Amino acid sequence: MANRRLAPASEQPASFAFSSENAEWAKGQIEKYPEGRQASAVIPLLWKAQEQNGGWLPRAAIEAVAGELGMPHIRVLEVATFYTMFALEPVGRFWIQLCGTVPCDSCGARELKDYLQARLGAPGHVSADGNFSWLEVECLGACCNAPMAQINQDYYEDLTPDLLGALMDDLAAGRPVKIGSQVGRTSSEPKGGADTLTDATLFDGSRVGAWRQRFEDKKAEDSSETSGKAEAASSEQRAAADPKPAHPASGRAAEGKSTDAPAQRSAAGETPVKSVDETDAADRTESTAQPGTPAPSAAETVARAEAAGAEAGTQSDLPRDEPPPQPVASGASEAVDEPKPAPANKSGPKRSAPKSEGN
Ligand code: FES
Repeated sequence: MANRRLAPASEQPASFAFSSENAEWAKGQIEKYPEGRQASAVIPLLWKAQEQNGGWLPRAAIEAVAGELGMPHIRVLEVATFYTMFALEPVGRFWIQLCGTVPCDSCGARELKDYLQARLGAPGHVSADGNFSWLEVECLGACCNAPMAQINQDYYEDLTPDLLGALMDDLAAGRPVKIGSQVGRTSSEPKGGADTLTDATLFDGSRVGAWRQRFEDKKAEDSSETSGKAEAASSEQRAAADPKPAHPASGRAAEGKSTDAPAQRSAAGETPVKSVDETDAADRTESTAQPGTPAPSAAETVARAEAAGAEAGTQSDLPRDEPPPQPVASGASEAVDEPKPAPANKSGPKRSAPKSEGN
C-alpha cells in the first residue's frame, strides 16, 4: 500500500477555485442533499476538483472543497487521503493504478509490479516523458479477470508484463487500445468462452414461454378448483335455506316429549292416575286375579288362550300333544323351513312354558 501524503510544498499551487462551469455543477450536487447534510457531497466535489487540476488533488483544492461544504479542513483531508481514487501528487498523462490485492497477486500482479518498477521507477512519480505514473492500490472489483490495472478511467484485465508493456506503448503512441480483457475474454466469462448457460433456449424466449404456459395452466387448475368449491358451498347454502326431509321421513310418527306421564300430571297439580286407568285396572283384577281362586294349570291356560284366539279369529294351528317349537336362534339361516311359533295374543294371558314329559 502506497503512502498517502500530500505532494511536497514545492509542487502545491498557491490557490484553487472551481471554474464557473464546475462551480455550477458543484452547486447542483450540493442541492441533492437535505439542509445540514451538504457534507455528503464531499466526494463528488473532490472528484471534480481533481479533474480540473489535471488529475491530482493539491492542498488548496481540498481546502476549497471544505469551505464550499462548511467542513473542517481535516475532515476533507481524511477523505482525500483514504480513497486511492484521489491522487495526492502530480500524475502522468496516463495514471496506472495496479491492483495488488490477493486475487490479482495470485494471478501475477507481482510480476506486473516489478515490470512497472523497472520501466517507470518508484510509484508516485511521473515518468521522464510525462506519460506515466503508477500506484499500487487495493481491489478494484474486477478480480474475476485478474490481474488487472486501471489506467485513467478504464480497466485493463488479464494482464501479463508483455501485454501491459504493449498497452503502455500503444497509449503513449496514441494508438487505439482494447479496454477490458486483453486475452479475448468476454466480460467475465471463462477463458475460451462460456461453458455454462449455453442452452440457446435460455435466451430465445421459448423457455420463458414454457414457464409462462406452466403458470397459466396452474392458474386455470386453481380457478377450476375454486369454482368447484364455490359450487359445493352454494349447494350447502341452498340446502340450509330450503331443508328437505330425509327419506322416508314422511309418514313417521312424530317423536315428541310425552306430556301424559303420572309425574308430569302430578307436577301440573292433576291426579297422577287417571280415573279411567283405575277402572281398567280394577276390571283386569277381577278377571285374572280373583282372591282365593287357585291359579289355573298350564293346560287350562293354553285352552283359555286358544279360546280367546278363536273368538278373535286367530285360532292357533299348533298340535295339542306336542311342545311348541323353539324359536330359531338369532343368526341362523332363514332358509331353514321350520314351523314358527304362533304369535302370542297380547290381550290374553301368557302361555306357560311347556314342560318336558319327564318332569
Ligand atoms: S483483487 Fe484485483 S481487482 Fe480485486
